[in-house]
Amino acid sequence: MFKKTILIATLIGLSSTSLASGHEVKPQTSAWSNQSLEAKIQSMPQGDAVRGQAVHTQMMCNACHGETGVSPSRNYASLNGQTEQYTLKMMLDYQAGRRWEHYKQADIMVKLAQAMNDQQIADVAAFYAEQAPSVWGNVKPLDPKIERLVRKGDVSRMITPCASCHGAHGEGKDITPALAGQVPEYFVRTMQSYKQKHRFNDVHEGMSQFTQDLTDTEIQALADYYATLGAKK
Ligand code: HEC
Ligand code: HEC
Repeated sequence: MFKKTILIATLIGLSSTSLASGHEVKPQTSAWSNQSLEAKIQSMPQGDAVRGQAVHTQMMCNACHGETGVSPSRNYASLNGQTEQYTLKMMLDYQAGRRWEHYKQADIMVKLAQAMNDQQIADVAAFYAEQAPSVWGNVKPLDPKIERLVRKGDVSRMITPCASCHGAHGEGKDITPALAGQVPEYFVRTMQSYKQKHRFNDVHEGMSQFTQDLTDTEIQALADYYATLGAKK
């Protein structure tokens, strides 16, 4: 994995030292409002899945995210079956440094997004949206307590049901990501980032609020739940 990162870093013109030290200075960006995000998404070019597949291969996205977006490793997010708008938003957020987590690994996404134009971003987003959702690992029985949290939420902690936004099958919609089949290690990491406010690219910090009162055990159980939920398209 380390060797692969260096190889890719060399290909996109980074030195291993700049990778190791990461971005020292966070670019100045303003947070999205619903209006500014909507306007930006509307202004993006139409994506093409066939061209997107070519970009995915040429820019070596496949090295970390797999040929069809199914991550071959527990280190990386899966992208197959993701909504087009969510992928657009993530690439724009990395590009502008809005998504700026403390993990060294996010750094490569910032550099790659900065090397892409709007058309290439739209094309990969169209490609991932066309790939079938999958299941990560062996299907396990769904924990009824967690299923309740997903479907009913928890009024006492002001947690809105996850399914009300992410869909009954974790299929996502527009800028709300699909969660079904997501790599559980990535899921836990990103939920903890929201909770600790290291990830702050969500509009009005909605996810940061929902994660505040979730326990580590619940976050892990939610990750296991969604990993094998099996989205229907
Ligand atoms: C060296 C490995 C590596 C390569 C190459 C790579 N990625 Fe990533 N990607 C990651 C990691 C690690 C994350 C999660 C980063 C984080 O935690 O912020 C990620 C996250 C993402 C996300 C956000 C996923 C989500 O669910 O929020 C998208 C979209 C994405 N990558 C697209 C791409 C595209 C497009 C390319 C090629 C241009 C690419 N990646 C190349 C490692 C990689
Ligand atoms: C009010 C709607 C809403 C609710 C309720 C909600 N989410 Fe989200 N969630 C979102 C949106 C929108 C995003 C994308 C934020 C961004 O742009 O970074 C998101 C992002 C995420 C991500 C990051 C996905 C990725 O690929 O990086 C995870 C994981 C997640 N939500 C899990 C949950 C869980 C678990 C619950 C229930 C406890 C929940 N969400 C409740 C709207 C919601």
